[in-house]
Amino acid sequence: MSTFYVTTPIYYVNGEPHIGHAYTTIIADVMARHHRQRGDEVFFLTGTDEHGLKVQRAAEEQGITPKELADKNSASFKALFEKLNLTHDRFIRTTDQDHRKVVETIVERMKAADDIYLDTYEGWYASSDEAFYDEDEIEDGRAISTGSPVEWVEESSYFFRLSKYEDRLLKWYEEHPDCVQTDGRRNEVSSFVASGLRDLSISRTTFDWGIPFPEDEEHVLYVWVDALTNYITGVGAFTDEAQFEKFWPCNVHLIGKDILRFHAVYWPAFLMSAELPLPDQVFAHGWWMNEGEKMSKSKGNFIDAFELADTYPLDVLRYYLVREIPLGSDGNFARARVVGRNNSELADNLGNLLNRSTSMSKGFIDSTIPAYEETAEPEDIDLRKKCADARDAVLHAMDRRETHRALEQVMSLSSDINQYIAVTQPWKLNKEEKTERVEQVLYHILEGLRWVAVLGHAFIPDACTVILEDSFGLSVPEAASFDTIEEFGGLAAGADVSRPEVLFEKLELPEETEAGADDTGPDDTVEETLHEDTIVEDDFIEFDDFMAVELKVARILEAEAVEGADKLLKVTVDAGEGENRTVVAGIAKSYAPEDIVGWHVAMVVNLRPRKVFGVSSQGMLLAVETDDGKLELTRYSDSVNPGTRIS
Ligand code: MSP
Repeated sequence: MSTFYVTTPIYYVNGEPHIGHAYTTIIADVMARHHRQRGDEVFFLTGTDEHGLKVQRAAEEQGITPKELADKNSASFKALFEKLNLTHDRFIRTTDQDHRKVVETIVERMKAADDIYLDTYEGWYASSDEAFYDEDEIEDGRAISTGSPVEWVEESSYFFRLSKYEDRLLKWYEEHPDCVQTDGRRNEVSSFVASGLRDLSISRTTFDWGIPFPEDEEHVLYVWVDALTNYITGVGAFTDEAQFEKFWPCNVHLIGKDILRFHAVYWPAFLMSAELPLPDQVFAHGWWMNEGEKMSKSKGNFIDAFELADTYPLDVLRYYLVREIPLGSDGNFARARVVGRNNSELADNLGNLLNRSTSMSKGFIDSTIPAYEETAEPEDIDLRKKCADARDAVLHAMDRRETHRALEQVMSLSSDINQYIAVTQPWKLNKEEKTERVEQVLYHILEGLRWVAVLGHAFIPDACTVILEDSFGLSVPEAASFDTIEEFGGLAAGADVSRPEVLFEKLELPEETEAGADDTGPDDTVEETLHEDTIVEDDFIEFDDFMAVELKVARILEAEAVEGADKLLKVTVDAGEGENRTVVAGIAKSYAPEDIVGWHVAMVVNLRPRKVFGVSSQGMLLAVETDDGKLELTRYSDSVNPGTRIS
């Protein structure tokens, strides 16, 4: 059986958890869950980093002891991770007893390798980063890279012979291109090492909140030696050899880009010195901003992780954080986009798929799964292939740590099944009493949906569990195993299909959505909305429901491109109301603005206006998607007056 060991950084306990902490730990959770689904034996480690000057000072400011502060905030991180329903196997604290012994052993091994000597450290130190800086890394009393204030330190210190490991580190980067990711970050680290390494000060004498230096209690061990060692303590180094053998070296240390040097230079050098294997990979992710602004203490704009967990359903939060940015890139947390992705992707795509599938099952096959047949219809063959391709693509993307891409594959399979419904039109087949075909088509839809739920389970576990357990009566975790999607046709004939509660409620846009707040990311949300809304709805609705949608003929007066959005046109229409309206339509790939001026088209006039790319869109133009993927507007002759009601 393969193993998979993933770690997050351990978090400083000087403050409360924010979005950055939640992000790394959620991504690690996605990876851990995914590998469990693949049948790997997984170990997922997270925890808190409790020693050091930074924590000691924060405690002094609050008038409590460092241990009291650590207990309080460590509990807060623990509570957050429970609230987020994360599946870590251990929550480690650097104040744990077993950890101290492992740290002492590491230092002894470094000593045995003749890598430690006593000298005096003279230089700059930033307690916010717990890092030493060279003269050329400082400007106006601050570290250039982080902006943290530095102070001059001059004291007796033990040093680690980091310089000795220069060549071996460079060789490691060169021979194992995956060892530090992304490639850009590896190059960064490799140039830093190639420019020459100085020995590292690894002890301090002017404060005492830390692990005492072995055999010299005057000194406290540098907090990064203590902290990095958690990764081996967590899996039983020097205490549980069997477990350590099984999981070490880890598959991936997931970290933020700001702590790359510690993980990709110091940590491997410490391990080399202690004669322990090096990690397979250090993967540095990017940083989140808050609605376009860098988060900082002075601005007081850190996004509180508890508030996030209270505001959004967990699946929605996970979905957004994974889907919004490639792992490794920076991102901008924009509440309007969380809502947009929820409404147009989770609700309109996946939620709608479940809704339609189960209601058609009720209407056409008595909520009972038919027998599977390996049919020869091209659309069936195509859907089966899409399922297998999506599975392979998810596996491939996850192996490359492209979590956003893996999730994109899941959602695109969901769109494909919606598309299959639009093409096969089961309601029509049912009307024509083509019973056998209805059964085959419904089987393909339901089985496809099961594949989506298995593939998506690591990302949006709650929703996928609802699909597997509540709709299909299966039991997770077995039903979420990748073993169940080796072959198409896993749903057992005769089993019941149930219609669960709404999977994703639509969310309201935050009240103060500033103009342009939507502009912060890729524009596929708008496109998706339009696309999904044009799919033929199979559910039966009441006549009154239909009449509630006000459809009118509108004359296009003007059309122009929307800056920064290559799929959108801003269209001014006359819908016979005396005052013109503006509509943002995702048709720019199908029409040039001048093509459509003067056209009489079909429009929904009583949709709640929404802001798209900073423009208030006051309605929706109806269109169909043709086989070649173009959108074609629903059009009337000029003799039909603007404002005429369509019914
Ligand atoms: N204690 C050290 C890590 C020791 S690991 C052996 C530490 N702790 S931290 O609490 O300051 O930061 C933890 C993580 O949060 C880092 O990976 C950092 O990159 C991440 N983030 C902090 N702010 C962030 C954002 N705004 N966005 C994303 N992640 C960010 O460093």
